[in-house]
Amino acid sequence: MSLSLLLPSSRPATRLPRVLPERPLRAVLLGCGTVGGGVLDGLRDGFAGDVTVEAILVSRHRTGRAPGRFFTEAESVFATGPRLVIDCLPDGELAETLLDEALRSGADIVSANKAVIARRPDFAVRARERGQILRYAAAVGGELPVLETLAHVRSEGRSILSVAGVLNGTSNFVLDRLAEGASLDTAIRAAQALGFAEADPTADLEGRDAAAKLTLIARAAFGVDPSRITLEAIAEDTPERVREAAASGYRLRQVATVRAADSGIEASVSLTPRAPGDPLGDVRDEENAVRISCHGGDTILLTGRGAGREATASSVLSDVSQIIAQRCGQ
Ligand SMILES: NC(=O)c1ccc[n+]([C@@H]2O[C@H](COP(=O)([O-])OP(=O)(O)OC[C@H]3O[C@@H](n4cnc5c(N)ncnc54)[C@H](OP(=O)(O)O)[C@@H]3O)[C@@H](O)[C@H]2O)c1
Repeated sequence: MSLSLLLPSSRPATRLPRVLPERPLRAVLLGCGTVGGGVLDGLRDGFAGDVTVEAILVSRHRTGRAPGRFFTEAESVFATGPRLVIDCLPDGELAETLLDEALRSGADIVSANKAVIARRPDFAVRARERGQILRYAAAVGGELPVLETLAHVRSEGRSILSVAGVLNGTSNFVLDRLAEGASLDTAIRAAQALGFAEADPTADLEGRDAAAKLTLIARAAFGVDPSRITLEAIAEDTPERVREAAASGYRLRQVATVRAADSGIEASVSLTPRAPGDPLGDVRDEENAVRISCHGGDTILLTGRGAGREATASSVLSDVSQIIAQRCGQ
């Protein structure tokens, strides 16, 4: 990961009452797949004495899992009385219901679930009102501290003009394969074979995944959600556009942009040709890049691994560390 111009060492400390001085913090893990599995390993390796994993929710029992108390019933997981709920479930009603349950239980929450957090701004409001901590750094930009950097900039009293980024590794990977001459089907299958794309990649290709991230960025940068986000999908005509861009030395990229305009917060996910040397054009495969433009001309550039087990789990674990520091002291 690389940062330029600004290096926030950590998110600004929010002063909350230390109502849970006990250590270790009793945690449960909702989901133990790509991200949750990495989180479980990280908690075991780096958080002994700080966090105990009391229960892990999965969809089915199977052999070959890491050691742990696995359950397929959410009631059994919440019956362990967690003070920290770590959500690594896929988007959907179950995740929404269980985050709601976590808020009711009084636990602090870390979530990787961009779609649910974007759809349910009330969760953050409720958490704040009840003195609970809800953090979701992993929901945007994998290992890149996008939301933390935006919070840091605002905490310094600087205002943000716009944020633009390549936020979806699957689309980026597919566009790179198209530039090499692959067909759209072949490019998508290659992304699936390498684990970048899900079995149903439409949320990535249509820009809905980037749009959910853009909503969280707008919330962090401007304090409000965009009233609407225009989307441009990777579709049948995209290979031709990739070739046209390449003929002029450009790279077609799925770029998500949000900016403060006189009319409100404008947001879009569009396919745009980027010139050589443009960090948003030079980003490769599943990498992400985000450019934050501030009043006064400052620009902050973040680049690095935008997805995957290790990058995403490290972001979740960084949120867990922040909660331990806030609740239990250093
Ligand atoms: N993958 C990434 O690079 C990445 C990056 C940023 C954010 N995220 C977000 O992180 C979250 C998790 O993604 P992932 O890639 O780790 O997903 P995943 O590999 O599919 O893992 C999902 C986990 O949830 C469990 N689960 C699914 N449905 C369930 C149900 N009905 N009841 C109980 N457990 C259920 C699965 O159980 P089984 O183990 O039994 O299948 C699995 O452990 C998503 O919200 C995603 O958007 C992912």
